[in-house]
Amino acid sequence: MKKVCIVGASGKLGQYMVQHALDRGYEVVGVCRERSVAKLDAFKGRITIIPGPTNDREIIKKAVAGCDGVLTVLVPWGMQQYSSGTAQAILDYARPGARLIFSCGWHITMDGQDLYTRSFKIFEKVAGWIGKLFRVVEIDDQVEACQRIFASDTQWTVVRGSDLEEGESQGLPVWSRHVGDSILESNITRRTDFALFMVEAIENDDLVHEAPAIVGCQTPSALAHHS
Ligand SMILES: NC(=O)c1ccc[n+]([C@@H]2O[C@H](COP(=O)([O-])OP(=O)(O)OC[C@H]3O[C@@H](n4cnc5c(N)ncnc54)[C@H](OP(=O)(O)O)[C@@H]3O)[C@@H](O)[C@H]2O)c1
Repeated sequence: MKKVCIVGASGKLGQYMVQHALDRGYEVVGVCRERSVAKLDAFKGRITIIPGPTNDREIIKKAVAGCDGVLTVLVPWGMQQYSSGTAQAILDYARPGARLIFSCGWHITMDGQDLYTRSFKIFEKVAGWIGKLFRVVEIDDQVEACQRIFASDTQWTVVRGSDLEEGESQGLPVWSRHVGDSILESNITRRTDFALFMVEAIENDDLVHEAPAIVGCQTPSALAHHS
């Protein structure tokens, strides 16, 4: 049985990942902030929880010990280098050869070849500016976290999510290397399927050192592409 660590397990994406990992028979270790432990009550007795801030290096060291995979929700919240601190600890402490899967949004670019619409760029700029002004969101730090991941020689994958919605699973999302590719045009993915993609990536070596931008497999742009 594989042992996987889910960092940010108490969030919406995190909880879906916990469920998908349990469905696959994986042993699950979840890390979340102390005050959020109760959000994982539904999994009581089925997972091990290590409470604490995910950018605490000692917490991460303990949580990833012996894990074959580490699934991380990279969050830009707060002004405390939360994303980069979390990512760095995982890069430093995960066992060599472990599959490391990180989540972020389309705004992250690996090779600068992504093509963004004007409205996407304006939204990102305004959101980043307001987030900084009110000291609640640190987009730059999520960018920094991804730069460190891209530069690392670990077995990483950075999954870049489109806009998200709730709802029943539609199946494994499709992906493309660059935002702007026609298959991604619909820009929507069910959150449970984002989580599914993250968990499936553990066993998919074709995704090592890739930053797939994903979209729901039943969206108009995905269906048009396949027909
Ligand atoms: N939302 C979108 O439309 C969207 C679009 C594209 C990509 N993404 C990516 O998807 C991932 C998660 O997205 P989601 O919308 O599904 O959110 P989510 O799963 O609810 O994740 C939120 C996470 O942020 C943590 N968090 C909240 N406030 C925090 C704070 N002040 N300090 C530290 N941690 C805090 C939460 O932990 P607690 O449980 O402890 O509160 C939880 O783990 C992220 O990587 C994001 O970049 C999201």
